[in-house]
Amino acid sequence: MMQVSEPYEHVSHSLTHAFTLKSNRNYGAGKSSAIAVIESTLIKHGIEYINTREPGGTPLAESLRDMVKSVEHHEKLTEETELLLMYASRSQLLANKILPALAAGKWVIGDRHDLSSRAYQGGGRGFDETIMNTISDITLKGFRPDITLYLDIDPHIGLSRAKARGDLDRIELEKMDFFIRVHNKYRELAEQDDSIITVDAAQAMLTVHEDVEKAVIGFIAKTDKG
Ligand code: TMP
Repeated sequence: MMQVSEPYEHVSHSLTHAFTLKSNRNYGAGKSSAIAVIESTLIKHGIEYINTREPGGTPLAESLRDMVKSVEHHEKLTEETELLLMYASRSQLLANKILPALAAGKWVIGDRHDLSSRAYQGGGRGFDETIMNTISDITLKGFRPDITLYLDIDPHIGLSRAKARGDLDRIELEKMDFFIRVHNKYRELAEQDDSIITVDAAQAMLTVHEDVEKAVIGFIAKTDKG
């Protein structure tokens, strides 16, 4: 499984949005256009795949997504609830979609996965490593993606892009301090883990796409599809 992780960006999952990004901006690239590059690289190699997103990706997990992202609650959604909803959604997705697809020989592209929780709930909210490891172990039972592409962007730029795109979700309404903690945690975790490839998302879009494609081709070469 591959995952694409990127802080602060509220982006749609559609190709249309990727084309909009291309026509509107010369610099930078978001998750959806990176995913489009991954998809076209897999297609070129004749690899069958499915797309997933987190939180969400199954009917029940999509309800959890709405719950965790909504700004319309009439009570405070606690940090503990947020953490549990992220992992509840991940559990549904893993059992009902990711594992069956892998068992059927398909590859899985994940728009976010466990790394996002480590960064947002671990780094941003401050849940410690023991708590994060425990809930992650309960949910994932040792499952981990083979490769993660982390689109690294300065939090100030990331947030202004998210704002330019429209409505911010509940988490994107946090203060800059929160996003700086999230960003620091992403970088710390990426440094410690060889399966995480950091792509500088502030580069020209074409360069970002080239970096993404290179990483995917490098990964494919190490598999039986290479
Ligand atoms: P997105 O799918 O549009 O990126 O929105 C997902 C939102 O949820 C975004 O604000 C990041 C946040 N998030 C977490 O806080 N923890 C997680 O584990 C995941 C998957 C997302």
